[in-house]
Amino acid sequence: MPLFKKKQGDAVQLPPPKHVAIIMDGNGRWATRKGLPRTAGHAAGSEVFRRIATYCRDIGMDYLTVYAFSTENWKRSQEEVSAIMGLLKKYLFEALEKMERDQIRLKFFGDLSRLSPDLLELIDRTDKTSAKYEGFQANICLNYGGRDEIVRAARAFARDCAAGVRKPEDLTEALFGSYLYSAGIPDPDLIIRPSGEERISNFLLWQSAYAEYYFTDVLWPDFTPAELDKAIAAYFRRDRRFGGVKR
Ligand code: IPE
Ligand code: IPE
Ligand code: MG
Repeated sequence: MPLFKKKQGDAVQLPPPKHVAIIMDGNGRWATRKGLPRTAGHAAGSEVFRRIATYCRDIGMDYLTVYAFSTENWKRSQEEVSAIMGLLKKYLFEALEKMERDQIRLKFFGDLSRLSPDLLELIDRTDKTSAKYEGFQANICLNYGGRDEIVRAARAFARDCAAGVRKPEDLTEALFGSYLYSAGIPDPDLIIRPSGEERISNFLLWQSAYAEYYFTDVLWPDFTPAELDKAIAAYFRRDRRFGGVKR
């Protein structure tokens, strides 16, 4: 468990943020810089996800949410999209094999209906098999878009109204949250984006209302537990006021 320094004071051991979210970006540039095909960057990136998820579990975090494939990423070449889907299958096969050792609850956020039937079957199996692990949960965002998530939630609520299960006046922020993929999960405390891009790219639009952001130039395949420690240390230097007054 790393030591984090709060402000300029003495080093103190603080609990890590409960929920960290990461936009796993920079795989393509990492590969291109090495003279490799972009898909080699995705392969390296998926190994880094494994390492970082284990580290988050080990330092006592409750949730890690990662952006693996966006609703916009279908714009890429068919070759790249299939390579990413292939890597995902490989990752899930291995995760299923190592489940007892890793003890990680795996959940999937996104419109999974567009994925291939064999990938869907694997996702379903991983979801069900890992349901018994309660200590640490990793949410993998696949064919995920923040706007798409909100539209789907609105549609589901409208359907419930039409069916007479809900009334428009019932709608509160909390109730709306229960229609999102993240139902029952606290909002992320910290959102990290590696690769130097400083934008949200349609990630967790609803849930990020009061998240702290951390940007770094490090490319995702080069991201290490030490980089995560740096992000968490920066998080501890922030004053989260949630609209209130500085304490
Ligand atoms: C993130 O890395 C992975 C996905 C979006 C699937 P990129 O593939 O976007 O890498 P860059 O941004 O082109 O370097
Ligand atoms: C965001 O990265 C999506 C994922 C990391 C899965 P992109 O590389 O797709 O985002 P843009 O295109 O730079 O905004
Ligand atoms: Mg990118």
